Amino acid sequence: MKIAILSADKTHLQQIRHLLAGEDAPAHTLLPGEDGPDHLSAVADQQWPDVMIVDVSHPGAAELTLFEQVLHAHPHLALILVCGSTTAEFPISAMRAGVRDILLWPLEKEALLAAIRRVEHKVVAPGATTQAKGKTLAFIPCKGGSGATFLAANLAYALAVEENKKVVLFDLNLQFGDAVLFLSDRVPTTTLADVAHNIDRLDASLLAASMVHVTSNLGILPAPENPERALEVMPEHIEVMLKLAATQYDYIVLDVGRTLAAASIKALDHADVIFSVLQETLPFIRDAKRLIYVLESLGYSREKVHLLVNRFEPGGDIRLEDVERALEMKVYATIPNSFQAVSASVNQGVPILEIASHDSVSKSLRRLAHEVVHGPAEKSGWLAHLLHHA
Ligand SMILES: Nc1ncnc2c1ncn2[C@@H]1O[C@H](COP(=O)(O)OP(=O)(O)O)[C@@H](O)[C@H]1O
Ligand SMILES: [Mg+2]
Repeated sequence: MKIAILSADKTHLQQIRHLLAGEDAPAHTLLPGEDGPDHLSAVADQQWPDVMIVDVSHPGAAELTLFEQVLHAHPHLALILVCGSTTAEFPISAMRAGVRDILLWPLEKEALLAAIRRVEHKVVAPGATTQAKGKTLAFIPCKGGSGATFLAANLAYALAVEENKKVVLFDLNLQFGDAVLFLSDRVPTTTLADVAHNIDRLDASLLAASMVHVTSNLGILPAPENPERALEVMPEHIEVMLKLAATQYDYIVLDVGRTLAAASIKALDHADVIFSVLQETLPFIRDAKRLIYVLESLGYSREKVHLLVNRFEPGGDIRLEDVERALEMKVYATIPNSFQAVSASVNQGVPILEIASHDSVSKSLRRLAHEVVHGPAEKSGWLAHLLHHA
């Protein structure tokens, strides 16, 4: 049983902790919790406790609404309130909202432990409060201009529109990110820097509200508007965002960029698959070799890394076999070169599937999205294995 305590009062917090520390308390893990009731939703969404003990001095209508919202999103969560005093009507309304118990200060140990024991019996099968986990797909260019951002953005779109999945695209090119421009002409009002700034209060609805929505099931978290603001985004912020996103979205697509800073490494740690994007020329192959080496030394297994050869044209100087031999790795998929359709999409900020649905690039993206979701039709099955049995 996972318990989180929410209290803005340090003394109260210690008292509750002390009561829970005794040997007669039911076995539990204490989660970090947070300051006060206004963090309720963030703690529920980020930490997924079974029980939340909320210290709220004089609860009223505003708190009641908050409790209702959280319990709606987390039906298995048990809320135990510890109050200074309540109005006569409050307990009835609170119980109706789904609050399990209301205790009063001074808090008696037996009352608290009894409330927790009552919950303990009701904690549904272990794992009931644990969240579904979305899959994370990272895109890294082996070299600038390989098409990683274009492919990340348009695959995200294909997953949302063709496969009906709930998708979020994170632009982790913190310094000079441009992913949003590939799918939308809207100027972002919030970016990753704003999300980082509000990390303590970050819950599912704040995360969603911070995105540029391309469709109802595809949101983009844009990169900060300037490099100074990029410095505000710390690896631990990325960690919180990605963990939360994995509970809310089917697919989390990361446009990671080429500079492997601490934040991008944190992001790669969460990736189920790392798509490394290259083209069939020697400079790309050289840099792909270096990137594969770096990814390996960071401890990511080779099976996680998938080579995408972009702007592929059969019959070129360098054949796919040469690429595979040089990199000692299979090419996972190729995306054809299609200058006109891609330029039109990129220049207008409209997904290629919208602007040139029958173009060869659109077809490849559709196939790739299908494989990501349903597993590859005839390939070795690595992706299927990673995505479906992980
Ligand atoms: N399959 C393709 N066919 C033609 N042009 C492409 C293709 N993929 C990408 N491009 C072009 O390459 C440019 C750079 O792509 P981008 O995604 O910004 O690269 P990266 O993120 O790897 O630096 C895009 O603006 C686009 O015009
Ligand atoms: Mg890019």
